Amino acid sequence: SDPDLVARAAAAKAKLGDKVFVLGHHYQRDEVIQFADVTGDSFKLAREAAARPDAEYIVFCGVHFMAESADILTAERQRVVLPDLAAGCSMADMAVLTQVESAWDALTELGVAAQTVPVTYMNSSADIKGFVGRNGGVVCTSSNAKRALDWAFEQGSKVLFLPDQHLGRNTAVLELGLSLDDCVLYDPHKPGGGLTPEQLRDAKMILWRGHCSVHGRFTLDSVEDVRARVPGVNVLVHPECRHEVVTAADHVGSTEYIIRAIEAAPAGSAWAVGTELNLVRRLALAHPDKQIMFLDKAVCYCSTMNRIDLPHLVWALEELVAGRVVNQITVDADTAHHARVALDRMLALPG
Ligand code: 13P
Ligand code: SF4
Repeated sequence: SDPDLVARAAAAKAKLGDKVFVLGHHYQRDEVIQFADVTGDSFKLAREAAARPDAEYIVFCGVHFMAESADILTAERQRVVLPDLAAGCSMADMAVLTQVESAWDALTELGVAAQTVPVTYMNSSADIKGFVGRNGGVVCTSSNAKRALDWAFEQGSKVLFLPDQHLGRNTAVLELGLSLDDCVLYDPHKPGGGLTPEQLRDAKMILWRGHCSVHGRFTLDSVEDVRARVPGVNVLVHPECRHEVVTAADHVGSTEYIIRAIEAAPAGSAWAVGTELNLVRRLALAHPDKQIMFLDKAVCYCSTMNRIDLPHLVWALEELVAGRVVNQITVDADTAHHARVALDRMLALPG
């Protein structure tokens, strides 16, 4: 990366000292991640944000929903900055509050809303988390989805899982032992979700039709192809991948799980990793004694994560040095209150 920008970022951070805390998601670019005070998956970063009451500014190198969660979990006086406001998440955008409310209305009319527990993946807007908090539900991440679903099925007999159909299906089927027939797919763009009233009423697991455009690109072909090319390869994928990919893989887990699995792998072992490319490239560089490769032949960055680049980070930090808070992410008090209820339920999950 540009040495002048590196020096400017370092100087601005040094001037801000303890006033600023920089969080970096594992999918961030190398040029950005070098300035993170802590790196993590979305669960770890949510906890880290909540554990920094002394930092006046939290600079979130990640995407919009993560910065919103940080704002919800930090104190009123702390300000959360997202260096580029265009760093959204296409999956989070697939569940809009009005759509979720009409799905809930349909469940209410069928008389089953009271026994339905909404569960939302961290990758959702604050509005959706607020809805879930108001209606007795919980947030989950890819590292605690099983525990969140176990909890939800203790509270009710049905779950409405938002917005990632793959994480919902993979967790329900592979970790809770539900069958594919227990799950239905609710398409917010179709009347009635594209389901008959009976399907909606009887399903144990209502999956929202959302997905991650990055992880959704890995296919069964990618798995079969790498197995043919690299005998003995271990296939390790994120649970945002399609069900057939996760089923064909050897290991599945969150970003933090993937990192730990590679760290624990014996020298000389071969690993094909199905997650975002910035992370896979860093893992390969950090473990030259192991053969770490990307699961697919095509390049697969998260374009919105990549919007946070060094020029944007330098700009945000230098503005803070000048006493100006740019790109602040704020969640209104009412939404934040209810979203916090759902986030706190997640943080209190056992284990
Ligand atoms: P985790 O950080 O929870 O592994 O999620 C991956 C992801 O896609 C974040 O946007
Ligand atoms: Fe969203 Fe997928 Fe990018 Fe994560 S990797 S921010 S889920 S689009």
